[in-house]
Amino acid sequence: MIKLKGVTKQFGTTRALDNFSLEVREGLVYGLIGPNGAGKTTAMNILATLLLPDAGTALVNGRDVVQDPQVVRGLIGYMPDFFGVYDGLRSAEYLEFFAAAYGVPAAKRSRLIKDLLELVNLPDKGEVYVDALSRGMKQRLSLARCLVHDPRVLILDEPASGLDPRARAELKEIIRQLKHMGKTILISSHILPELAEMCDEVAIIEHGRLVTCGPVDQITRSAKGARQLKVSVAEPVPDLAGFLNQQPGVSSPWVEGLIVQFFYQGDQSQQARLLQTLVSNGWPVIEFSEVRRNLEEVFMAITGEEGLPNGGN
Ligand SMILES: Nc1ncnc2c1ncn2[C@@H]1O[C@H](COP(=O)(O)OP(=O)(O)OP(=O)(O)O)[C@@H](O)[C@H]1O
Ligand SMILES: [Mg+2]
Repeated sequence: MIKLKGVTKQFGTTRALDNFSLEVREGLVYGLIGPNGAGKTTAMNILATLLLPDAGTALVNGRDVVQDPQVVRGLIGYMPDFFGVYDGLRSAEYLEFFAAAYGVPAAKRSRLIKDLLELVNLPDKGEVYVDALSRGMKQRLSLARCLVHDPRVLILDEPASGLDPRARAELKEIIRQLKHMGKTILISSHILPELAEMCDEVAIIEHGRLVTCGPVDQITRSAKGARQLKVSVAEPVPDLAGFLNQQPGVSSPWVEGLIVQFFYQGDQSQQARLLQTLVSNGWPVIEFSEVRRNLEEVFMAITGEEGLPNGGN
């Protein structure tokens, strides 16, 4: 439904996106995670036809964002990471304005606005001035706004930022409903746990490049059960990561000198068998242990300088 292929975008000397590829299948809630400056907003702006890529292609439902921007705009609802200032406008008027801009017939607008305000849990706020809404309410109004033309694809840039836990839970519920309605949703954040709760799959982006992507449980597995294992060896063994990658329960091994770390899913006896396999295959193992890390640290490990799983370097 969404496809970025080899997309590059340069701002002066900064390469915001560097040969970046991503595929989001229809009906998925897909998370784009990366630290500040990673290129998330740039990727989303390109999909939203607000920015032209320097190279590569970006497609929404098979339509090229550069060739067919008008068609793409009809397909997507884009929620930017900021909320403009709307002095003297009430919530319902705000939605009315955007519905009109998207060509929703006047006769249908009041029903639509009522439904949208209900969907985002703001049923009583139609007559409240936009500027008088709390931040969380503004975020939800902004979400309602990008739904006025009933788009098939939603591109939400940091929709949960600045929300308290309860507002986040509400947002999660709204996203669940939107998914149920058949929308394909791309959502960004710099907080992995925040997205892990809402998404089917995630991609991790750093310095404009894709670091890793896949189902959430695969990416966060290590943190969930704190199952990150570490093998130290007596001498450099360049092929060990590849060998490990073929073993059941092992994913994303990465090498740091004489240490190979990887995410592991398996119980203690399976873990013992893995060690036996390593030793009986002649790998010079001197240490085999579990690294206890929380989700934040996993994210740091994945996006940090010290090592990138999947050879993302
Ligand atoms: N209009 C612009 N002019 C110059 N540089 C830009 C522009 N937009 C983005 N950049 C640079 O491109 C890089 C990627 O920025 P981008 O906004 O896409 O990151 P992000 O992942 O959305 O970060 P954040 O989490 O802070 O929102 C950054 O280094 C940023 O400074
Ligand atoms: Mg951003």
